[in-house]
Amino acid sequence: INTIGVLTSGGDAPGMNAAIRSVVRAALAKGMKVVGINRGYNGLISGDIHEMTSKSVSDIIQRGGTILHTARCLEFMEPQGQQRGADMCKVFGIDGLVVIGGDGSFKGAEKLANLGINTIGLPGTIDLDIACTDYTIGFDTAVNTAMEAIDKIRDTSTSHERCSIVEVMGRDAGYIALWTGIANGAEAVLLPEKENMSTEALIRMIIENRNKGKRHNLIINAEGSNLDSVKLAKKIEEVTGISTRATILGHLQRGGSPTAVDRMHASMMGAFAVDLLAEGKSNRVVAYKDGQYVDYDINEALDMKKSMSDLRYEVSRVLSI
Ligand code: F6P
Repeated sequence: INTIGVLTSGGDAPGMNAAIRSVVRAALAKGMKVVGINRGYNGLISGDIHEMTSKSVSDIIQRGGTILHTARCLEFMEPQGQQRGADMCKVFGIDGLVVIGGDGSFKGAEKLANLGINTIGLPGTIDLDIACTDYTIGFDTAVNTAMEAIDKIRDTSTSHERCSIVEVMGRDAGYIALWTGIANGAEAVLLPEKENMSTEALIRMIIENRNKGKRHNLIINAEGSNLDSVKLAKKIEEVTGISTRATILGHLQRGGSPTAVDRMHASMMGAFAVDLLAEGKSNRVVAYKDGQYVDYDINEALDMKKSMSDLRYEVSRVLSI
């Protein structure tokens, strides 16, 4: 491999910059040339590509977001767009490519691999919704950010003896919800992966909690669950008479300086990706599984099904009484 390209694709995640820095510096250390590709596959197709030096990644390890910018590229989902991407790799002499993103981004990497470009995927998403890995870059920071925000909501909710519905991100996955549910001591967690309490059961729980002397209730609702946070809050207030507020945390969960955990894994995974390319590997995704950095065939990884820990879910329920 002479020239490695690096891009970030899909939703950004804290720690992506640490991963970019690691790819650039690990590749330079092996005597390779590195180019940064702006705005994901969009920038690949349009040739928004520039050489990166050790200096171009200094002072970024602590920054949220991605210095390469990111996008969701519709054109790259079509064979014509993929061919244009592969052609542009040839124009710029890119013979190895590191794609930092989620499952959708890996599908693009797989297409490029089929067109002769050696590609490696790094799992970057706050959602933790990639089946082959126990960890994704950005999840730790997002959970910590959400946890701190929910602690603040709890302060005011307790003062007013209210019920709070807090909606967290995760798309179709409930990992941020489950983790904050445990970390924030929620009375209930609503997840896309599990059969959730009905509105009536939630209302019954809130009334029983009030009768037991609980002065506030915290319900964490994953954005992918089947319940609408605002409607749920209205219904609870209407039926119980308990003042209830819904807060949708939204994009604040995607920003901020990455935690040490995210910086560490992103740095290790970036260097691991460069090692794989140097060994001539392609169409692989880097994962963190049972405490080890490993790699899987992208197609195999995309076929895996993620299953949420029943143990964590059970503990979240037991501790909510
Ligand atoms: O995949 C990351 C994520 O933040 C999801 O949790 C959320 O559903 C989605 O992206 C939001 O996307 P957008 O930034 O396009 O609104």
